[in-house]
Amino acid sequence: MKAIRDDIKEVLVSEEEIDAIVTRIAGEIDRDYSGEGRKLVMVCILKGSLPFMGDLMKRVTVPVEIDCMKVSSYGKGTESSGQIHISLDLIRPDIAECDILIIEDIVDSGVTLSHLTKYLEFKGARSVKCATLLDKPSRRKVEFVPDYCGKVVPDEFVVGYGLDYNEMYRALPYVGVLKPEVYEK
Ligand code: PRP
Repeated sequence: MKAIRDDIKEVLVSEEEIDAIVTRIAGEIDRDYSGEGRKLVMVCILKGSLPFMGDLMKRVTVPVEIDCMKVSSYGKGTESSGQIHISLDLIRPDIAECDILIIEDIVDSGVTLSHLTKYLEFKGARSVKCATLLDKPSRRKVEFVPDYCGKVVPDEFVVGYGLDYNEMYRALPYVGVLKPEVYEK
């Protein structure tokens, strides 16, 4: 039987590098959220951010609550910069006390994160920041700068560690570049 690793052209972010990124960002979060009266809530954006969220939440040492949202952008992959559709919302009566940290696997066009940040601010969160494992600034359609970034990557078809192609490859423990013949056939 074929192994999913056979479809990977090259490893872009190895398990060791991911581990170092998680340690670095967890340290930055500890430094920034250790103040008196902070209420850090890490919000995992399903599904791609699951592995990063799982690793990062275990590495921070400041008090943290966790939550999840599911969000997609309309017109993804097209010229439309559209709006976002929220299929799992953040429902918290204490939102005004929450320092929300959105956890993402990748920022691409920036549409999802720019809208989501404004949405959570509009809902009344005390603060809203974003930590992303990967950033592809060359693909931006709207301006968005993540507060915490694991690695800037080139515009290649990346999968693994949460990132998918047709829902596959999310379970790979590293981020790799997909062989073109997989998505061109
Ligand atoms: C990805 C990623 C972000 C969004 C970024 O999610 O997790 O939410 O796309 O793209 P953008 O910057 O162009 O808006 P996706 O819609 O692929 O969902 P998934 O995590 O469930 O795979």
